[in-house]
Amino acid sequence: MGYTSSPEAQRIEPLPYGEKYFPHHNKYLDFWRASVEDPIKFWDERARELVWYRTWDKVLDDSNPPFYRWFVGGETNINLNALDRWMGTHVANKVAYYWEGEDGTSRVLSYRDLFREVNKLARALQDLGVKPGDTVTIYMPMIPELPIAMLAVTRVGGIHSVVFSGFSPSALADRIVDAKSRVLITADGYWRKGKVVELKKGADEGVSLAEKQGAKVEKVVVVRRLGNPVNWVEGRDVWYHELTSKYPDTTYVKPVPRKSDDVLFILYTSGTTGKPKGVMHSVGGYMVYVYNVFKWNWDIRPEDVHWTMADVGWITGHTYIVYGPLLNGATEVMYEGAIDYPQPDRPWQIVEKYGVTIFYTSPTALRTLRQYGDEWVRKHDLSTLRILGTVGEPINPDVWRWYFELIGKMRCPIVDTWWMTETGAAMISPAPGISLVTLKPGSATFPLPGIVADVVDENGNPTPPGVRGYLIIKKPWPGMMLGVWGDPERYVKTYWSRFPGYFYAGDYAVKDEEGYFWLLGRADEVLKVAGHRIGTTEMEDVLIKHPAVAEAAVIGAPDPVKGEVPVAAVVLKAGYQPDEQLRKELIELIRTQIGPIATPKTVLFVRKLPKTRSGKIMRRLLKNIMEDRPLGDTTTLEDPTAVEELVKAWEEFKAQMK
Ligand code: WT7
Repeated sequence: MGYTSSPEAQRIEPLPYGEKYFPHHNKYLDFWRASVEDPIKFWDERARELVWYRTWDKVLDDSNPPFYRWFVGGETNINLNALDRWMGTHVANKVAYYWEGEDGTSRVLSYRDLFREVNKLARALQDLGVKPGDTVTIYMPMIPELPIAMLAVTRVGGIHSVVFSGFSPSALADRIVDAKSRVLITADGYWRKGKVVELKKGADEGVSLAEKQGAKVEKVVVVRRLGNPVNWVEGRDVWYHELTSKYPDTTYVKPVPRKSDDVLFILYTSGTTGKPKGVMHSVGGYMVYVYNVFKWNWDIRPEDVHWTMADVGWITGHTYIVYGPLLNGATEVMYEGAIDYPQPDRPWQIVEKYGVTIFYTSPTALRTLRQYGDEWVRKHDLSTLRILGTVGEPINPDVWRWYFELIGKMRCPIVDTWWMTETGAAMISPAPGISLVTLKPGSATFPLPGIVADVVDENGNPTPPGVRGYLIIKKPWPGMMLGVWGDPERYVKTYWSRFPGYFYAGDYAVKDEEGYFWLLGRADEVLKVAGHRIGTTEMEDVLIKHPAVAEAAVIGAPDPVKGEVPVAAVVLKAGYQPDEQLRKELIELIRTQIGPIATPKTVLFVRKLPKTRSGKIMRRLLKNIMEDRPLGDTTTLEDPTAVEELVKAWEEFKAQMK
């Protein structure tokens, strides 16, 4: 292909794993050390690479922990850096998005196209009455109008709350209510595995549920993606194309100046209570962090074609499909549909079609694609690839090797990025954009510049090398969340109370003798199903609402492809009998109340849940059963027969599955 990959990437032939030291290993560690020795200077310099209306008075205000505020006194708008600054440069004529529909249609948008569309929609939103500080909920499929909507909202000073299009109407309703949105942007439908998903129908249901809870949705903007028939509420619903075609292409809306510590967006994520929390990210800090991390992760160059195979409805899409690429003037691929439709080589066909140079996906996607067989990969020319990334869950070393050998042909470093919705962008990961370290399959390697992380025991003391503990972040960083929307106490309680003074991620981790971090999965009541975060309490709350259910406990069972899948243990009320019909009903209830990603693998009916004498459900024990591990200490059990019954139900289910 004649493509020249980065000097760093070229130097790693064959990959350094197995070798003791990659030659530039220490160069990275030296860079990192300097960054944390004087973080204020470090971030001050990084922030000056971007455009601001007003420069900050203070890089970091740490007078009211944990409410750290970055670039205080600074004013900007993320549009200035994602779009406006590219106009009048060669980037204006560069591809911003190669969009690929599941049905094989495609669209190409330059930075100039994007700029025009965003300005027109921004003007339309102003006409609809969207004011600075207003929240706009976005419930959209993976089409270019999704990033356009996000940018238009932030351009007029609004706050977006994107709700993943795979979430149920009732999940949408809860988020509209909590965010107090008066405007919703959605679409008629989209393709998923060759079938039409009627999104507008879901949006209508969501809005009416939200209004029952006191919300008032005044306007619903609808993008016509498919042209499928939709229900229409006169006076409330407006077509996106009718709204924006009123304005000429020269429409210009000045990006509304916002304070650095204003809210840029809200993104709801699951935690350990039944109610998802609205994670708030900041205008200035998020922008500075994402701009830099995107560069460090991907060593981004003008000629790159970057593809994050994720949905914009999650933080990965916000950061690595929308803001990261645009802040760097990079070209991004956006794919609408299922990764194995119409055939299991869809991703590789897309890599070939657009000459993708950097490919970022999840371990679940890789495990899914691998099980179809290597011949699907071999059919395609993947020689443009130079860096591969993964995110969302721990990657098994054997999948890592498959990715490295078959997809990357032993030329491309694997950038395993550990982070979470709350952190804004990657925190622990290789940084080929600075200097590549020796990789170890399954390890996310070292913290990024400016990030100080550690692994500690129950008492907050660092664990010795090789001993599992809890991951903490010891110093504030610009990409950190501002707080939880409408609930400052929850922010303090969830993240800053377990180990006072430190940010608690909720993950198990281990550091090896050489200081490498290995992330081992969630340490709390949160599941990672196919890389998606789902709270067990949320699911339990749904089950309890069913008239037949007295008690419920949801646990993650290991799954060879999805990492883990939910399994529910349910105790029925007197007068109800367990049967297949009821099992199906309960599974369906979770599907419709939360979304298909939360669908339990099965429901185990038991007469009792294993509890301590003080009445606490013994989750660790349940987990051990699911993982076929020894039960461990059962002496605190209130009634040992509860365990026997559960083991039996689980064994029966597994026997049926065979
Ligand atoms: C949780 C956060 C961040 C984007 C996608 C997920 C797990 C994330 C890794 C990784 C091991 C990982 C953690 C974390 N996780 N990346 N590279 N290795 N585990 O965002 O939905 O907020 O989930 O995902 O358990 O706590 P999220």
